[in-house]
Amino acid sequence: MRFEEYKSLKNHNTFGIDCEARYFVSVETVEELKKVLSENPSEALFLLGGGSNMLLTDNLDALVIHLNLKGIEITKTTEKEVFVKVMAGETWHEFVEYCIKNDFGGIENLSLIPGNVGTAPIQNIGAYGVELKDTFESCHTLKIETLEEREFNKEECQFGYRNSIFKNELKGKYIITSVSFKLTKKDHKKNISYGDIQKILNDKNIKHPSVKDISEAIIAIRQSKLPDPKVLGNSGSFFKNPIVNSERFQEFRKEFPEAPFYEITPTEFKIPAGWLIEKAGFKGKRFGDAGVHKNQALVLVNYGNATGQEIWQLAMDIQKQVKEMTGIFIVPEVNVF
Ligand code: EPU
Repeated sequence: MRFEEYKSLKNHNTFGIDCEARYFVSVETVEELKKVLSENPSEALFLLGGGSNMLLTDNLDALVIHLNLKGIEITKTTEKEVFVKVMAGETWHEFVEYCIKNDFGGIENLSLIPGNVGTAPIQNIGAYGVELKDTFESCHTLKIETLEEREFNKEECQFGYRNSIFKNELKGKYIITSVSFKLTKKDHKKNISYGDIQKILNDKNIKHPSVKDISEAIIAIRQSKLPDPKVLGNSGSFFKNPIVNSERFQEFRKEFPEAPFYEITPTEFKIPAGWLIEKAGFKGKRFGDAGVHKNQALVLVNYGNATGQEIWQLAMDIQKQVKEMTGIFIVPEVNVF
């Protein structure tokens, strides 16, 4: 293990923000992680996965622990299913590619989501009709205070829309060291009803899509709408899609009958934040090096040298303007430090 000082985190966050870590160490095994945890007070630590869901607005006066635990292992197979244990530091999309190569079904709709496997359960990543929780079996964790190991099953994780127990009462208390998935080996349950997936498959004349075909369709959709963080710094959706009650929704509908929405329950309605931000006039706008993506207003981008404060200022301006124009309050999905 090599400890570094004043280390730039520019290559460790997908927004590409140039903030420094006072101390930095990359851990490759659970033993290394335990050693670092046991030798440092927990309040001085900052845990870093793929850096894909965070905005740094200042240098971190902490010991940043980069969770770089690697490994993918099949733990059990049945006639139709396969259980795969993946270490936290594996790149999410590389794990998706592993599944596609082996024709394991279940996460193909989650192709190309940035970030690491270990952070995926924290916000229950989701896209194109599928969420992580649909294939999640369990995760293995380390309690930061006591170094006790604990397994969490699906129920214990309390998954919700971009949410889990690790974002709420257990926030900052446990480190996810590996995640186990239950995937299909055959008779895959395909989710192709969302958006343009079916259209792309039709255009290619694919009647019985394989998991690979679906993954390729998702990749095409994402590449047409979402910026590649390697080219243009970003953190995916900056805001969550707001969920409002019927009363609020009826008022909103009266004023904006053209707005898209999803009925979640008869009393809960989800409104796309991207639509609200576009309505408020921010889509494609650029303020210095901070901007709003031209194809998807939900994504804030760094054109090169934006500071975290500049991105944050833009986010707050958007939040205020959306509230004033539409009466709806949108909240960030990314973690801001
Ligand atoms: N829309 C606009 N203008 C925009 C963007 C969207 O009017 O600039 C409208 C679209 O026309 C559509 C609706 O909003 O009617 C929904 O748009 P889209 O299908 O692109 O999805 P989203 O709700 O904006 C969510 C996730 C994405 C995920 C997509 C696809 C959240 C916060 N975001 O976006 O997740 O890829 O659905 O499933 O739930 C991420 O979390 O980083 C992410 C990219």
